[in-house]
Amino acid sequence: IMMQEIKKRGIIIDCDPGHDDAMAILWALASPNLEIKAVTTVAGNQTLEKVSNNAIRVLTKAKRYDIPVALGAKEPLIRKLVIGGELVHGDSGLEGPVLPQNGFSVSDVSALKLFEKILEESEEKITFVGIGPLTNIAQLLITRPDLKNKIEEIYIMGGGTIGNWTPAAEYNIFADPEAAKVVFNSKLPIIMAGLDVTQKAYITREENEILRGQGNEISVFVAELIDYFSRYHYEVEGFPGCTLHDPCAIAALVHPELFESVQCNVDVEVTGELTRGMTVVDTIDYQKKLFGLEVAHNTKFLKNVHREEFVKEFFKAMKSLD
Ligand code: RIB
Ligand code: CA
Repeated sequence: IMMQEIKKRGIIIDCDPGHDDAMAILWALASPNLEIKAVTTVAGNQTLEKVSNNAIRVLTKAKRYDIPVALGAKEPLIRKLVIGGELVHGDSGLEGPVLPQNGFSVSDVSALKLFEKILEESEEKITFVGIGPLTNIAQLLITRPDLKNKIEEIYIMGGGTIGNWTPAAEYNIFADPEAAKVVFNSKLPIIMAGLDVTQKAYITREENEILRGQGNEISVFVAELIDYFSRYHYEVEGFPGCTLHDPCAIAALVHPELFESVQCNVDVEVTGELTRGMTVVDTIDYQKKLFGLEVAHNTKFLKNVHREEFVKEFFKAMKSLD
């Protein structure tokens, strides 16, 4: 029988590895209907140099030397860079497991140039997955609005109705609120994996031992990433498991059926003192109910995840990588 040609969906992952960024990249690599056109990096969890080295080392670990890694912004659009990962991700930004040395060097073009090249050359629309501060994606939208019609959707890990950097704001959005505001107001379809859903997408200690027990190199590597990454979640956040923030963005793309969501308006606070970087999520549609005002339901807001299924699919994906 003819193997039915799987229609691959072209994606660009913009990230700041980071343990959960690394797991998101690996899940995307394991997904047969995704084609990663590029991995681009942005300062966030650690400096641009460190997160870029980490991105290359993760791809080297997965033996994928064919995916370009291009450097993006070393600081936010306007604000001063606030490094987010010292505590959680350690000095290198990917502490814990032994990492291979870089198997290839960064692209000789910038992230922005590579975005433009891919969008201009692609027949199909491209989907962005933004799992760090949104500086790079915002810069594309600001400087090349003509390319917006080549973008299918933007999946982001960020924001939420709760915070994890301040009481009001999640780190990725806090780090570059102006960039996030540009993205949410771009009129492009946004799928938002915020803390409301990512804090439910956790792996318990026992489940991490099952992952390690899968025995293939990548499963053992990811279990070691989780060993390190989970400390903060247990000791500081007091969670029942290690929350896989960034992998939720990929899971929402390849297994949307695992999530419960609501289409609603989301906008970003950029002038508040206490509320800098807060994503204001209007799931009630107050403006319409109170004032009859139509506001754009610009975001598919992920509210819930079927945790056990999520973990099962994650394990299957890690097992499929050698
Ligand atoms: O708040 C969680 C986000 O901040 C994740 O993307 C994690 O990698 C860090 O960047
Ligand atoms: Ca990240």
